Amino acid sequence: MHRQIYYAVTDSTNERLKALADEAENGLVAVAGEQTAGKGRIGRKWQSQPGQGAWFSVLLKDERLNAQNVPGVVFVCALAAARSLNRLCQESGFAIKWPNDIVHGGKKICGILCESGMSGDTLQYAVAGIGINLKAESFGSELPWAASVRSETGFDLDADAVIGAFLNEFDIAMEQMYNYRLSGILDRIRPLSATLGRMVRAENGENSFTGTAEDFGPDGSLIIRDLDGIQHTVHAGDVSVRGVMGYV
Ligand code: BTN
Repeated sequence: MHRQIYYAVTDSTNERLKALADEAENGLVAVAGEQTAGKGRIGRKWQSQPGQGAWFSVLLKDERLNAQNVPGVVFVCALAAARSLNRLCQESGFAIKWPNDIVHGGKKICGILCESGMSGDTLQYAVAGIGINLKAESFGSELPWAASVRSETGFDLDADAVIGAFLNEFDIAMEQMYNYRLSGILDRIRPLSATLGRMVRAENGENSFTGTAEDFGPDGSLIIRDLDGIQHTVHAGDVSVRGVMGYV
C-alpha cells in the first residue's frame, strides 16, 4: 500500500517528497494535478499542465536500497511505466528508449527523473519522479517529439488508474531488483526495448559515434558496436535511436 498526497498545484512532486523525506515513510506517493516547475533530466523543464497527465513521485527509504542498487530504480520505473501503459491500452506499442524514456510511435510519452539524498557515502532516500503525458494534443514547436497516450492511441486514461497500475508493477519489480539484482529487470526490459538492435548515435562529450545497440551490460549500461566493429559501453549520456524522437 502506498499512502498518497495530492497537490492540486505544486512546484514539483520530486521537490515535495525531498522536503518530506526525513519524516515521511517509505513508499509515500506525491501526485500533482499541475506542476509549476516540473523538472526533467539534465536541468530541462517538464511541461505539466493541469489535468493533462500523471505527474507523480515515489519516496524510497527501504533499508535494502543503497548507493550500489539505486541506479537500478530508473530501469524499474521504465519497466513499470511501459508495462502498465501497454496493459491499460491493451497493446504493446509502448517501448523503452534506453535508459528511461517511454516512447510510442517514435514519440516520447513518459519521462523519469530519479534523485537521491546522500549523507556522505550513505544513501538516505531516493525519489522516483514519473511524468506521463495522457491527454495533451500538442506540445509546442520546442517539443516536436512529445506526444500523449490519447494523441497516440485514442485512449483517454484516468491519471489515478495509471498511477495505480504503475505502482502495482513498480512494487513487483522493486522486489525483484532487491532479491535478484538488476539482471531480471533487464531480461524483462529487453523485449520492450526501443533501443536494442537499432542504429544509435551516442554523444559522450567529445566522443560521439554511431553503431548498433547490441545489449545491456549487467549494470544497465548500453553496449554499442560501432561501424568499425569496435564495442563501446555507454553508462550515461545522450543516445539517439534511429527512427525514435526525430533521429533519422
Ligand atoms: C525527463 O524525461 O526529462 C524526466 C521527466 C520527469 C518528469 C516528472 S513529472 C513528476 C516528477 N516531478 C518533476 O518535477 N519531475 C518528475
